[in-house]
Order: sequence, then C-alpha cells, then structure tokens
Amino acid sequence: MTRAKISVIGAGNVGATLAQFLALKELGDVYLFDVVDGVPEGKGLDMLEGNPHWGSDSKVYGFTTTDEKAYENMKDSDLVVVTAGLARKPGMSRDDLLGKNVEIIGGVARQIKKYAPGAVVIVVTNPADIMAYALQKVTGFPPGRIMGLGGSLDSARFRTFLAEELNVSVKDVNAFVIGGHGDDMVPFLRYSNVAGIPVEKLISKERLAEIVKRTRMGGGEIVNYLKTGSAFYAPGISITAMAESVILDKKRVIPSAAYLSGSHAKHYGADGVFIGLPVKIGKNGVEHIYDLDFNPDELELWKKTVASVNENCRKVDEFLSKAH
Ligand code: NAI
Ligand code: 2OP
Repeated sequence: MTRAKISVIGAGNVGATLAQFLALKELGDVYLFDVVDGVPEGKGLDMLEGNPHWGSDSKVYGFTTTDEKAYENMKDSDLVVVTAGLARKPGMSRDDLLGKNVEIIGGVARQIKKYAPGAVVIVVTNPADIMAYALQKVTGFPPGRIMGLGGSLDSARFRTFLAEELNVSVKDVNAFVIGGHGDDMVPFLRYSNVAGIPVEKLISKERLAEIVKRTRMGGGEIVNYLKTGSAFYAPGISITAMAESVILDKKRVIPSAAYLSGSHAKHYGADGVFIGLPVKIGKNGVEHIYDLDFNPDELELWKKTVASVNENCRKVDEFLSKAH
C-alpha cells in the first residue's frame, strides 16, 4: 500500500501549520507549494527534520511555483488543500480582494485540473464558500469532490465557548455552525447539546446570545489580537480533521461548505452554490448532505446567509467571464 499524497498550496501561516499537523499525524506525504522563492522548500525541510522526535515517517517536500513546472510535483495527489491567497490590505475593498483571490484560485485550479484530476479538494482561501465555487467552475470537477473550510473551524470555536461557559470537557459538547463563513453564519443552538442535554436548558438565553455573537466574530477576535494576520492554529487543526476523514475514509460528519443541487437545493432554497452544512466526509469528499428543518427564526437567518453567498457567487461569475 502506498502512503497518501497530500498537496498544500500556499505555505503561509495556515498552509504551513496544516502541513505540520498532517505530517505529525502521519496522514500522508505532504507536498507544499508557494510563490515565494525558497519558503516552501525551507519550511518543508524544517518540518521533515522534526519528524524523528514524533516517530513520523511522513515526507514533507516544498516547491516554489514561480516556475509553473513545479506543479508537476502535485501529480496524482489524493487530496489538495488550497490556502493560497491574499489578505485584505489598506485601501482594498472586499470586492477588490474577491477579484484578486478569484484570480489566484483560478491559476491554482488549472494546475490541480492538470496534475491531480482525481483529487479531493479542500478550499480554505477566503471567502472559502465562494472560492470553492470559483474552483469548481474552473476545474469542472464533480462538485462533491470539493469542499470549503468554514463550519469545521466555526463549530470548534462554538464548542470551545460552550465548554468554557459550563466548565465541561469539550469532548462532551456537540454543536455546529451552518451557513456561509462570514458574519452571518448560523451557530445552530437547537441541536447543540452537552452529552445529549440541550444547551438551551443549561445556559440562559442572554449568555447564549453572547456566545453566538462571539462565535460569529471568532475570526475577527483573533485578528484584533494579531493585527498583522488571521487565525491559523485552529484553522490548521480544523482542516486536519476534514483531511483525516478523507484520507482514512472515516465518514465523519463535519460542517463544511458543500455544493447544493437537486433535492438538497430544493430543501435549502439555494441552488448551485457552496454553503456550510453538516456533511459526511469520506474518501470521495462530501458523501452526504444532511437536510435540516428550520423553525421560522432559523429560516430567516438561513435566508440571509444564502443571500450573501448567492450575491458573491454572481460576482465570481462576472470575474470569471471577464477573464475569458
Ligand atoms: P498567509 O498570507 O500567511 O499565506 C498565504 C500564502 O499564499 C502566502 O505564503 C503567499 O505567498 C501564498 N500565495 C499567494 N498567491 C499564491 C499563488 N498564486 N500560488 C501559491 N501560493 C500563493 O495567509 P494565511 O493566514 O495562511 O491564510 C491563507 C488564506 O486562508 C487567507 O485567504 C485566509 O483568509 C484564509 N483562511 C480561511 C479560513 C477559513 O475558515 N475558511 C481560516 C483561516 C484562514
Ligand atoms: C477565521 O475565521 C480568517 O476566516 C478566518 O479566522
């Protein structure tokens, strides 16, 4: 049996952290790519040299992609994780950033299509639901093989805050966040519980509202501390959980941005977009999407997040049509 091959595009904070988690967990050999000369090679070698202490035989290799030929090394990857992208800079609007990142994702997507046409792809670059949409448009891959990071991270934050509130083990807190990975994400209280006991019976309405708000702003809270960048440890481990479920075919149910079509599109009132929902993740990517029923309040929140995802996907359509 050969070891799995995992390519990570973008060797910045998230990509490098993820690469090390993957290697330490020995999930496969890790191929790290970045446009900055020497960075992926240096970081990859640095990680490889630490593996003996962990007893991991995963290889970690780095490749600079200023010469596109470097992407040949992605050949036949089982899993590709895309973290390449720009962060918003002063003077740059959200739409400018969207346009720039669509351009980057488009370039990366063409390489994935060329060298790893059978891979499962996890898109991390923000806005991740929208970048997953762009990547699917450019690769033409079956949409079920593509998923976006969002709920895995947001739910981990939600569980952390609920566990802290009740001073219980995070292991006993089941809770998830659905919708787009933005300010209007939906932490789903009604199904959140501690060892089966609904959180709404354990925590006051007021405190729950504060926890929901903190979860929604979880990314911003870290940015406010770091000032020069965004979160990467919790993102790194949240992607690792998704990657592990693909590589080991674990069939874990992890909220992720998945493509809606057919009966799911009808159920959720959202068609042809990627949006966060609880999904079963296995070797084929998204293997099942769970249809949740909403009460009127939840439906209102859901419609709002769908509207913003739809709006951004239309902007991607525009960017992609101009690029042709
Ligand atoms: P970073 O700036 O540390 O790393 C980004 C890396 O991408 C840089 O090393 C850069 O050189 C590289 N890059 C840029 N263009 C490239 C290209 N064409 N090909 C290859 N590499 C390229 O940023 P960080 O913190 O690693 O975040 C990466 C992305 O992930 C951002 O868009 C961020 O917003 C997003 N993110 C999304 C999360 C989610 O839940 N969906 C969570 C955390 C981060
Ligand atoms: C986060 O939620 C930046 O999307 C990233 O931390």
